[in-house]
Amino acid sequence: MTVLSLFDGISCGRIAFERIGISVEKYAAYEIDKYATQVSNKNYPHIEQYGDVTKADFTLHKNFDILIGGSPCTYWSIAKNHREITPDGFGGRLFMHYVRALYESKCKWFIYENNYSIHKDIKSFISKQLGVEPIMINSALVSAQQRKRYYWTNIPGIVQPNDKGLLVQEILESGLYWQKKSYCMTSCYHPVFYDTLCKHCNTMVAQPILIGYIGNSRGQGNRVYSVRGKSVCLSANGGGGGAKTGLYKIDLPDGDYIIRKLTPVEAERLQTLPDKYTEGISDTQRYKCIGNGWTVDVISHILSFLPNS
Ligand SMILES: C[S@@+](CC[C@H](N)C(=O)[O-])C[C@H]1O[C@@H](n2cnc3c(N)ncnc32)[C@H](O)[C@@H]1O
Repeated sequence: MTVLSLFDGISCGRIAFERIGISVEKYAAYEIDKYATQVSNKNYPHIEQYGDVTKADFTLHKNFDILIGGSPCTYWSIAKNHREITPDGFGGRLFMHYVRALYESKCKWFIYENNYSIHKDIKSFISKQLGVEPIMINSALVSAQQRKRYYWTNIPGIVQPNDKGLLVQEILESGLYWQKKSYCMTSCYHPVFYDTLCKHCNTMVAQPILIGYIGNSRGQGNRVYSVRGKSVCLSANGGGGGAKTGLYKIDLPDGDYIIRKLTPVEAERLQTLPDKYTEGISDTQRYKCIGNGWTVDVISHILSFLPNS
């Protein structure tokens, strides 16, 4: 298979092809973040890196089999103050390079991804440009992370993945409890364990379970979650503490507990990446690249519907 990947990040798409057993003869990647490309090149030295999409001539990749990509959601996400709600901003302009790539390359198949929280007008605009309606898939079905994303694709017949029932307690690294920074809870709740009905897949799906706070702020970086629920959605930006991965209360064998953020390997597991996939760059850059990335098993699930795959 020949793959054209825009906004390639750490090449989660490339892992997805491998995981589903589709051999890749060519993988042309467009990415501008030097840490992300470092991770991709370390794991897949044969990836061809082409850099900035705005300077690209996609006719170089004529008749490739598939175009994949998710342009930065930072401009459109509900997590951003004053997010763009019309397609004529920076987010829309980057997305239009994906559309241009589709026309110039004439790829047979495509997958485009973006955040579930985008404004409905942006969602309609994307659907109009790509000629299909998106399917919403929550990564929580295949991983221990709550992460709702839209996927637009012309691959036919996609249904929701089965719920693997994974919780944070299943992805923790063992033996690390005492080495990592711990925090004190300043207020705590009795955990309420509940699954909610997902209207998209008609399945009861576990949720992150907020059990308290550290410090005085109620911000995301100060929230403490139970490991008996899902993790919150990993993010690429955010402040210190647990802003990127959340903070979790972990029971120790001696009856005590600690509160810590997740390690880079645990964050990788939440995205169903191989352990240590992002090793080789700083922890800060690892969290950023992982939070920016795709949940590999969601992409391989979508790819499993490719005809004759
Ligand atoms: C949401 S992330 C996509 C991550 C990717 N799907 C993965 O598997 O890791 C968007 C990516 O677009 C990249 N990006 C932003 N502007 C770009 C541009 N002009 N050309 C190429 N890549 C760009 C960012 O550096 C970021 O890694």
